[in-house]
Amino acid sequence: MASKRTKRPGVKSVETRYYEERESVLRGLHNLDRRSFLRLSAAAFGAAAGAGALRFPHSFQPIRVAHAATTEPGFRIAYISDSHLYEQEVNDRFVRQLLRAVDDVNRLDPQPDFVLYGGDLAQLGQAKELELGAEILKEVKAPVRMMVGEHDWFFDMGEKWRDLFGEPTYSFDHKGVHFVTLLSVNEEDFWTERGMTPIERMHTVAGLDNGIQSRFQVGAEQREWLRKDLEAVPKTTPVIVFSHSPLYHYYKPWNFWTEDAPEIQALLRPFQNVAVIHGHTHQLLTNRIGNIRFHGMLSTAWPWPYAPEGLPELTVQMNRPNPFDPNDGLGTGSARVHPDGQVDKIYDLWNRNPIEVPASYLASGGKKDAPPKPGLASY
Ligand SMILES: [Fe+2]
Ligand SMILES: [Fe+2]
Repeated sequence: MASKRTKRPGVKSVETRYYEERESVLRGLHNLDRRSFLRLSAAAFGAAAGAGALRFPHSFQPIRVAHAATTEPGFRIAYISDSHLYEQEVNDRFVRQLLRAVDDVNRLDPQPDFVLYGGDLAQLGQAKELELGAEILKEVKAPVRMMVGEHDWFFDMGEKWRDLFGEPTYSFDHKGVHFVTLLSVNEEDFWTERGMTPIERMHTVAGLDNGIQSRFQVGAEQREWLRKDLEAVPKTTPVIVFSHSPLYHYYKPWNFWTEDAPEIQALLRPFQNVAVIHGHTHQLLTNRIGNIRFHGMLSTAWPWPYAPEGLPELTVQMNRPNPFDPNDGLGTGSARVHPDGQVDKIYDLWNRNPIEVPASYLASGGKKDAPPKPGLASY
């Protein structure tokens, strides 16, 4: 006799409960009133974090336990990047994904010393998009360091972003490492002559492969600032630079490119240990040019394909994301910063095992400690 499957009324899976709680946060975000936002998000985040009451799929739990088990010297930072928020009435999905990213980094144990936000918080630089992002990022437990991306900037040339987050170019010292954050997405003025409106300018920059805009650049003014900033730093001090676009020439037609990257590299060359951590490319990406090691960050919104004409040195290529799974190829990540400034980069992919690109892999030119190949079939 065939057994009958009875459905138990009133029992919800942990995932259903998780997403229902998220719904309440999202509904609260419709009225961006600080008090109601905090009340709603505290309820949802609190419930989600409650003493093992919920188990989450994929990367949420076991990975972090593994990372936490070691007592290594140095320190950890985490990152969230490229959330591309639209106003919530237009697109809830990217909002949901940023909330998930915030949960991810809030669950890291031990907590990172700080969380870098890697730029492209907004999709079209709208005040409401940036405000929504700022509200959500207030829920990050660790201190947050902000970086700007082109999607945040070209509607009002940074006015709203500055209001919310301060100046985009700054440096600071932390546990013996000198950190520098740059605005790497400046462009030559293509809009004035064409009589473009702010939103036309923004749309043009957002379309990376049009023939109108110039390539990104740090620009002469910031390069001079960087030169002076680095003058005071001993050459033995580790330097870590945050930039939105990669500080090398990767693929020009898509603006995976910073035009004056060679000049920035020249300023960094005298230092013994330099790492650049960048956003914008939405994929696992590694490179090494002389003493400078480059690490790309994952996006929380969508993965970009790899450029069609060659990968940077030492890149561990991830499989092409599953087009039927809107969370595949996305995630957050962290970096273990050794006392000498070398970085182990950890990609916490939401739908896959985490991938660690250790400092020893880069230092050996790929001969030692190669990360395992991604385990899924390509789509
Ligand atoms: Fe982006
Ligand atoms: Fe970008």
